[in-house]
Amino acid sequence: MKKIKIGLIGAGNIANTHLDSYSRVEGAEIYAICDINPERLQETADKFGIERRYTDVDTMLAECPELDAADVCVWNCNHASCSIKALNAGLHVLCEKPMAYNAQEAEEMIEAAKKNNKLLMIGFVLRFGDEAKIAKDFIDKDYLGEIYFSKAQYVRRHGNPGGWFANKELSGGGPVIDLGVHVIDLTRYLMGSPKPVSVYAVTFDKLGKRDHLQTNVGWMPKGASEKDVCTVEDFGSALIRYDNGAVTHLETSYSLNGESSGNKILYGTKGGLDLSKGVKIYSEYNDFLADIDIKTDNYKKSGNMFDLEMAHFVDCVANGTECRAKAEDGLVVMKILDAIYESARTGHEVVIE
Ligand SMILES: NC(=O)c1ccc[n+]([C@@H]2O[C@H](COP(=O)([O-])OP(=O)(O)OC[C@H]3O[C@@H](n4cnc5c(N)ncnc54)[C@H](O)[C@@H]3O)[C@@H](O)[C@H]2O)c1
Repeated sequence: MKKIKIGLIGAGNIANTHLDSYSRVEGAEIYAICDINPERLQETADKFGIERRYTDVDTMLAECPELDAADVCVWNCNHASCSIKALNAGLHVLCEKPMAYNAQEAEEMIEAAKKNNKLLMIGFVLRFGDEAKIAKDFIDKDYLGEIYFSKAQYVRRHGNPGGWFANKELSGGGPVIDLGVHVIDLTRYLMGSPKPVSVYAVTFDKLGKRDHLQTNVGWMPKGASEKDVCTVEDFGSALIRYDNGAVTHLETSYSLNGESSGNKILYGTKGGLDLSKGVKIYSEYNDFLADIDIKTDNYKKSGNMFDLEMAHFVDCVANGTECRAKAEDGLVVMKILDAIYESARTGHEVVIE
């Protein structure tokens, strides 16, 4: 079987996660890697035994015409430029979330994919988790009825990663674009991908990075330091309205004086579905309120969600399988994210065209 030759663009934390997953995907060959940071490049390339290594994407693309695909794992501000270069070089692309810095860049990426007739997949990894798969199956079989409201929550009590994540010029924003993106996409996907029509949102930057705290925050880019700027929000909340009348309430933070939590709940006319811890369904049986805890112990054998995401990307490239995390969905989410920041800035509801 011919292996798909993949070039990694970016050699940081998430690139390491992707590389680890690709090592378990039959049909994937990591052919080359690039990063503008030579130390990160060397460290990651050594760890995964990748010989072709470059400090810029143009040289990698020019010197590796054998590549079939690129996997873009760089700062948010460089998602569009790196993806468009790879697409124009004739490669299929998997781009990490958020799809881009803003919706306009996302549109340019889709244009490049169309022009070159190549796949552009977005790293909406939660779509590939077992919980999402189980939930989708129950929803498709109409256990929830009409879903009219969802809670999309991704709250960290103390989790500003610092480094480029905290620098708006490089990241585009804080928890809204970094964490909110995951739960906005997941809830919208499970609600049947409705079209967003408007957003009312607030953001706050009250607490900052809180470098004085004596605890680690996790997911810090290597080289992040207390001297790094913090120009992003630390909390965001939004009401997202869809064209079918359904509404999602987003709540997301890097810093908040409250419990860290990740509630993802869908409310329908026949039942509710809670994905916060495993999968739970709220319903009625024989005229009693009843909760059903779905036993997923054996089902869990399907693998970790990054393995499933990478395997799906390789399958799409190799076999033309229909992509489950399309760029068009990435663009819709970018429009919602843009509207959240615009609404928070102006204090008004923002209509999405
Ligand atoms: N799916 C998830 O759950 C998940 C988790 C973490 C991060 N991410 C996303 O992955 C991306 C990277 O995050 P990270 O945590 O790995 O950050 P990181 O800082 O650890 O790694 C990013 C790397 O990109 C490199 N880079 C930046 N611009 C480049 C360019 N033009 N060409 C080549 N290399 C370039 C940097 O030098 C750095 O080494 C972000 O978009 C982030 O949102 C996704």
